[in-house]
Amino acid sequence: MAICRSRAFILVLLFLSSFSSLYFNLLAKKLFLHEFNPDVPQRNISILLWHWPFGRPYRLDGDICHKMYNISHCFLTDNTSAFPTADVVVFHHQELSKGRSSLPFDLDRPASQHWVWLSLEPPVNNERLKHFNGLFNWTMTYRRDADIHIPYGRTMQGGDDLSYPAAPNRSCLVSWVVSKYQPQQSRSSVYQRLNNHIPIEVYGMWNKRPLSRKKLLPTIAKCFFYLAFENSEVTDYISEKLWRNAFQAGVVPVVLGPSKATYETLAPPRSFIHVTDFDTTADLSAYLKHLAADKQAYEAYFQWHRTHRIKTYTDWRERLCQICVRYPHLPANKVYQDLESWVYS
Ligand SMILES: *[C@@H]1O[C@H](CO)[C@@H](O)[C@H](O)[C@H]1NC(C)=O
Ligand SMILES: *[C@@H]1O[C@H](CO)[C@@H](O)[C@H](O)[C@H]1NC(C)=O
Ligand SMILES: *[C@@H]1O[C@H](CO)[C@@H](O)[C@H](O)[C@H]1NC(C)=O
Repeated sequence: MAICRSRAFILVLLFLSSFSSLYFNLLAKKLFLHEFNPDVPQRNISILLWHWPFGRPYRLDGDICHKMYNISHCFLTDNTSAFPTADVVVFHHQELSKGRSSLPFDLDRPASQHWVWLSLEPPVNNERLKHFNGLFNWTMTYRRDADIHIPYGRTMQGGDDLSYPAAPNRSCLVSWVVSKYQPQQSRSSVYQRLNNHIPIEVYGMWNKRPLSRKKLLPTIAKCFFYLAFENSEVTDYISEKLWRNAFQAGVVPVVLGPSKATYETLAPPRSFIHVTDFDTTADLSAYLKHLAADKQAYEAYFQWHRTHRIKTYTDWRERLCQICVRYPHLPANKVYQDLESWVYS
């Protein structure tokens, strides 16, 4: 009798334990998929790029987002015949504004389809914005408050193992690369005033000293500092001048662009010199000369490599795949009734 009872007890135990492990497995899967990984979309998302930015196409064969960036269920196409079934259609502004491409007003726009306005340019370079009011559902640009935020670069946690020879063989104090020099821009007047105090190596089309892609970083790396001066001082606009030209060359950037607070939030700690920290360009030049002569003080601007690293974005495909990551969090019903005001806000 006792044996019988304990057998029954064991059977019950076995039953319960297998049932509960099955239950826990299911629960764990559910938690993993839905709570711990909310970015996994539940279905395939198809993204149609209506035309390539600046007319330069990239290859889109196969499951690019998965293969290159480990983003699944995300399919990119540039075949405009996919319009009727696309979840998202992306329009790069430049070609629309110049009339090289146009919006598909002749096609029936599916009710659930979202149109994305894409630009990495500061407001002044986005012409004819008025013509595009009430058409787009989402914005995709470098601004942090865009629906799809696509910065030129990002600061990541974790050192990069790059032990820059902080004061290697620098043969010049500061360099600047400028292709379109416009005297009315504030970067031009800061440059002119700085140049009264210190020599500045100027490269680019303006000076008839253009640098090839291969020569760019090694040339910048010859000087202690680089003028990462943006052509527009607007919200969040920090271009490849900082992320690539200065940081990838391993020199200290002198920055002019958005506020110091913006750089402090977006760039690595103690990685740059902001022009507004100085009352006069004489003070700024004196500070640069001081740093170039004081190895320890100069090297302090490279300490961040121990704790942070930077990531730059250059491939349009990577940016487009980001739409799928953001997709579950994007507002379902939204229209930019006044796109121009948003761009200039
Ligand atoms: C998603 O697309 C892949 C590849 O085309 C296909 O094999 C899969 O069945 C699709 N999944 C859904 C849920 O439609
Ligand atoms: C430093 O640069 C100068 C001129 O470019 C070169 O002659 C010299 O050999 C370099 N020194 C080192 C240690 O690399
Ligand atoms: C997207 O924008 C269009 C144009 O204003 C609008 O008609 C449509 O309802 C919007 N779609 C969604 C899903 O919000």
